[in-house]
Amino acid sequence: MIAIKNLLRLYPQPGEKCAIKGLYLAHQIHKLGATGSPFVYANFLSSLDGRIALGDASQSTTHIPKQLMTASDFRLFMELHAQADCLITHGGYMRALDEGRLGNILQIKDKDLVEWRRNNDLKTQPAVIIASASLNFPMHRSLHEHAQKVYIATGRNAEPNRIRYWQDLGYTILIVGEDRKVHGAPLIHELSRLGYQSIYLIAGPQMLDTITREKQLSRLYLTITHQLVGGKDFRTLLTGSPLGKEGNLTLKSMYYDPYAPPGSGQFFMQFDL
Ligand SMILES: NC(=O)c1ccc[n+]([C@@H]2O[C@H](COP(=O)([O-])OP(=O)(O)OC[C@H]3O[C@@H](n4cnc5c(N)ncnc54)[C@H](OP(=O)(O)O)[C@@H]3O)[C@@H](O)[C@H]2O)c1
Repeated sequence: MIAIKNLLRLYPQPGEKCAIKGLYLAHQIHKLGATGSPFVYANFLSSLDGRIALGDASQSTTHIPKQLMTASDFRLFMELHAQADCLITHGGYMRALDEGRLGNILQIKDKDLVEWRRNNDLKTQPAVIIASASLNFPMHRSLHEHAQKVYIATGRNAEPNRIRYWQDLGYTILIVGEDRKVHGAPLIHELSRLGYQSIYLIAGPQMLDTITREKQLSRLYLTITHQLVGGKDFRTLLTGSPLGKEGNLTLKSMYYDPYAPPGSGQFFMQFDL
């Protein structure tokens, strides 16, 4: 078990020491959305040279570089998770989970966070949206075991047989895109109509791209580790063409952790749009 030490606040009001535990719970994200106006947030972990993943662009070999991952960053990731009434993930993650390439982040497991949800009138586990153009992924049994509401989101031109396959199994399909892909604005509009107010994007760069481009992102949490990773094949935060004003963010807070990753450090940042 790695000890998680204190952080130093750099902005606003620099100089104060803060505990990591509770840092993001204090943001009270679950109260920031309202009926018809959900609060949509994402969290990414990057190196100084902008790498969020390494490896061939084909899904099965990309991975988050191990040296970026720290217990403190994961704790904060889970504090954000705990404040969501709805998660957005995707078909690629469901395949990776099934093949054991990634761990399960579909449920909150830390006892203190489960209790925090209970005390804050949130369901034990959030609903899960699986965005997929292919509709070709396995469902993970933990979703059923935890009685989580699951929706599958796709585009109008998705394979009709695959749509029928999921509907026959009892899943609700959200058609929220013109082609086969999901688009940010109709997806968030539909989730808002379904009553969700605190929506946590735990998907990768393609979903962040459409959500940001279509002006649906309310807040970006970004951890930058003080490491240069290099590598020719890498992924960064976004995938699409250059953004305009919708890419302008405002810094809300910034914390410095000098203890992890070992021999380096990291910034925890919060930006609003
Ligand atoms: N460092 C970090 O903070 C961070 C965060 C997230 C991910 N990552 C890493 O980055 C790498 C790439 O990320 P990723 O695989 O999560 O993301 P991705 O390449 O953006 O998306 C992969 C899958 O998501 C589905 N998808 C994405 N956008 C969609 C859309 N608009 N409509 C419908 N389906 C859509 C597709 O599923 P179908 O094939 O089923 O259609 C697609 O294959 C991975 O190695 C991942 O582990 C790092």
